Amino acid sequence: MTNNHAPRVAAPLTLPCGVTVKNRFYKSAMNEAMAGRNCAPTERHVRLYRTWADGGAGVLVTGNVMVDRTQLGEPGNVAVEDERDLAMLRRWAKAGTSNGTHCWIQINHPGRQSPITINQHPYAPSGGKLEGDYGRFFAEPTELTVEQIHDIVRRFANTARIAKKAGFTGVEIHAAHGYLINQFLSSADNRRTDEYGGDIEHRARFLFEVFDAVREAVGPAFPVAVKLNSSDVPIAVKTGAKDVVFAGFDETESIWVMKQLERRGVDLIDISGGTLEQPVIQTTSGAVEDRRRGVYFTEFARRVKDELTVPIALTGGFRSVRDMERALDEDITQMIGVARPLALVPDLPKRIIRDHWEGTVDLPWVTTGLKALDKAFGGILVISWFELQMNRIGRGRKPNPRIGGMRALCFAIGKHGPAALTPRRRKGRQ
Ligand SMILES: Cc1cc2nc3c(=O)[nH]c(=O)nc-3n(C[C@H](O)[C@H](O)[C@H](O)COP(=O)(O)O)c2cc1C
Repeated sequence: MTNNHAPRVAAPLTLPCGVTVKNRFYKSAMNEAMAGRNCAPTERHVRLYRTWADGGAGVLVTGNVMVDRTQLGEPGNVAVEDERDLAMLRRWAKAGTSNGTHCWIQINHPGRQSPITINQHPYAPSGGKLEGDYGRFFAEPTELTVEQIHDIVRRFANTARIAKKAGFTGVEIHAAHGYLINQFLSSADNRRTDEYGGDIEHRARFLFEVFDAVREAVGPAFPVAVKLNSSDVPIAVKTGAKDVVFAGFDETESIWVMKQLERRGVDLIDISGGTLEQPVIQTTSGAVEDRRRGVYFTEFARRVKDELTVPIALTGGFRSVRDMERALDEDITQMIGVARPLALVPDLPKRIIRDHWEGTVDLPWVTTGLKALDKAFGGILVISWFELQMNRIGRGRKPNPRIGGMRALCFAIGKHGPAALTPRRRKGRQ
C-alpha cells in the first residue's frame, strides 16, 4: 500500500463510456443458485446484493444470467428473455446500486455446457460432446444454424436492454470459461466452415456481433464489459491417425480480440481463463493452494499491459490488500476482481478502505471428510459451499466458514434435486 490512508483500491476510476466507479473493487460474477423454478430473481438476491452494496465494492457483477430459459448453465440460474420479471429485477437492481455502487448484470448462454439433467438439447457452434471426466453429464449438442446464431445475438441485446430498463448500471458479456461465446472463439470447439468459423477473425465474429448488438441496445454512455479467457489451456486434438495438434483459444488470439473490443468501445475487460475440460480458475484445497498460486493470470496481465488502454479487471486469487495494491502499483490491472472472498467477508472493501484492514482472507479446504466422496464431488462441493454461503446472506444470516463439505453437498441436493449432483465445474470451473 502506498499510503495507509489513501490506498490505491480506494481511488475512483472513469471508464471509457464516461461513467465513474467509486473504487477499484470489482465483485466478480458468482452464480447465486437462488432463482426459483421459473428462473426469476428472488428476495434472496435482493438481500444479498444489498449486503454487498453496503460492503463497499465499486462494482458488483451479478452471477451469470441466461438469455434463454431452456438453455441454463446450471440449476438456479436467473434467465431474462422478456419483461415478465421486471418488478423483481428492479428491486434487485435497486439493492445492488445502493450506497453509490454499480451493479452490472453478467449475460451468458452456456452452449454445450448445459447439464443433461436440466437440458437434453444443448446447442454449440459445432457438434461433438464435451470430453473429460464429466463429459457424460452433458448431452451431445446440435450445431447452431446461422438463423439460431442471429437469434442468440438478439437475445443478448434484449437481456441487456431489459437490465438497463430495470435499473442495473452496466452489463458484462460472459465470453470466458468454455460457455457459448468461448466455444465460438476456440479452434478446438468451433469447426464451422461458414463465416463464424475458421481463423480467429471469423471465430470472434459471434462475440463482436453480440458486443455491437448489446452496445446498440444500451447506448454509448452505459458500461459494457467483457469477461474473456487469457487462454483456454490448449487441449490435444487428433487430426489423423498419428497427428496430434494443440487447439483452443490462445494468449495471442486473446490479445488480438481485446484490441478489437477496445476499438469497438468496450469499457472493461475482465481477465480469466480455462474451460470445463481444462479448469484453472479455482482451488479446492483453499488457503494453502492459494498461497502457492498467488494472483491468477498475473503474467498474462503483464503481457497485456503495454498493448491496451482499456481498463482491466484481473480476477482470481486476490486475498490480501498487499497483493491488490501491488497489482495496481504495477499497473497490470485497474480493477481488482474478487469473487469467493466476498462470499465469506461481504464487507471486505469497507474493511480495507475505511478500517485499513491488512489481513488475508483464507479460503477453507472444503471436504466431506470422506476421500471417496470428495473425489466424486470435488468441484461441486466447492461451488456448493460458496453458494450455501451466499444463500445464508440472502436469508439474512452471516456466512459461516466452519460449515463442512457434507452440508454443502446436502444443500446442493436439497436445493436442486438430482440435478445438483451434476459436476458443473470440475475443480471450480465457472
Ligand atoms: C460459486 C461460484 C459461482 C461462480 N459463478 C460465476 C459466473 O456466474 N460467471 C463467471 O464469470 N464466473 C463465475 N465464477 C468464477 C468467479 O467469477 C471467479 O472468476 C473465480 O472464482 C476466481 O476468482 P476468486 O479467486 O476471487 O474466487 C464463480 C465462482 C464461484 C465460486
